[in-house]
Amino acid sequence: ETPDSSSMKLSRRPELFDFEGVSMIHYFTDNWEKVKNFQARPDDILIATYPKAGTTWVSYILDLLYFGKNAPERQTSQPIYMRVPFLESCFQVIPSGTELADNLPTSPRLIKTHLPVQLVPKSFWEQNSRIVYVARNAKDNAVSYFHFDRMNMGEPEPGDWNTFLQKFLEGKNVFGPWFDHVSGWWEKKQTYSNLLYLFYEDLVEDTGREVERLCSFLGLSTSAEEREKITKGVQFDAMKQNKMTNYSTLPVMDFKISPFMRKGKVGDWKNHFTVAQNEQFDEVYKQKMKNTNVKFRTVI
Ligand code: A3P
Repeated sequence: ETPDSSSMKLSRRPELFDFEGVSMIHYFTDNWEKVKNFQARPDDILIATYPKAGTTWVSYILDLLYFGKNAPERQTSQPIYMRVPFLESCFQVIPSGTELADNLPTSPRLIKTHLPVQLVPKSFWEQNSRIVYVARNAKDNAVSYFHFDRMNMGEPEPGDWNTFLQKFLEGKNVFGPWFDHVSGWWEKKQTYSNLLYLFYEDLVEDTGREVERLCSFLGLSTSAEEREKITKGVQFDAMKQNKMTNYSTLPVMDFKISPFMRKGKVGDWKNHFTVAQNEQFDEVYKQKMKNTNVKFRTVI
């Protein structure tokens, strides 16, 4: 199932601008007063990621863990972006993230954000809400973001791969530099104990193990059988076929250009980077990451 491009509701690509030191587009700042003053609850679970790091994957896992058994109809009747509100977003095509979150009928609320840690509404810290952060290796993250920007009319025009890559290295893409994002959240983890920091590569390597890790962080007691069922249901092919998780219902994406569930692989960057681009990337990476302690198991 592909979204019909004639129903593409956002015709003009948004422009990037500086917002409190972070590159942003108006879809994520127009609602800022409400975002800033958002009232988090102690049982909220915030899923925080840099875009394209595995947000949808972890959102779906959490949704199944909490509601898979008790409210199975939720999974077949509502797309994931309605079940897990995207806090700062205010695309015209669906209600804003704060509105969706305020009106969620179920608890706990699962809420998604791409905000760098310093922009997260303060009530999350005050309420000591639990947070799951997902990081993905920089190169695959960049490739995935490039294809996403090509097909998503709600994103700035990416240009060709090299143009996009140069902007990525400068942090001139929506939500700012990847480097600051992953390391800012990593630093936060050192002082905020209700934060679980996951890696996309670990999820690919052993989804079941990461589901278990999530359960123990969230204090959920699920049977091995349930976890197995969830692990199977959240594999790439299953999510790609599933209309409620593959984003085919959101009319701002042109799947003829690239699907949302694109490849789901570790190491796809090798099909994109030239030798020169790779050397340049490694150089910038070394520079930008030299003062951080984030330990990517897969530094590729
Ligand atoms: P690719 O573009 O590399 O395929 P987000 O949800 O943060 O926007 O991230 C989207 C990326 O996660 C895409 O990466 C998508 O294919 C991948 N992804 C989503 N679900 C996945 C799954 N079940 N297994 C592996 N990768 C998944």
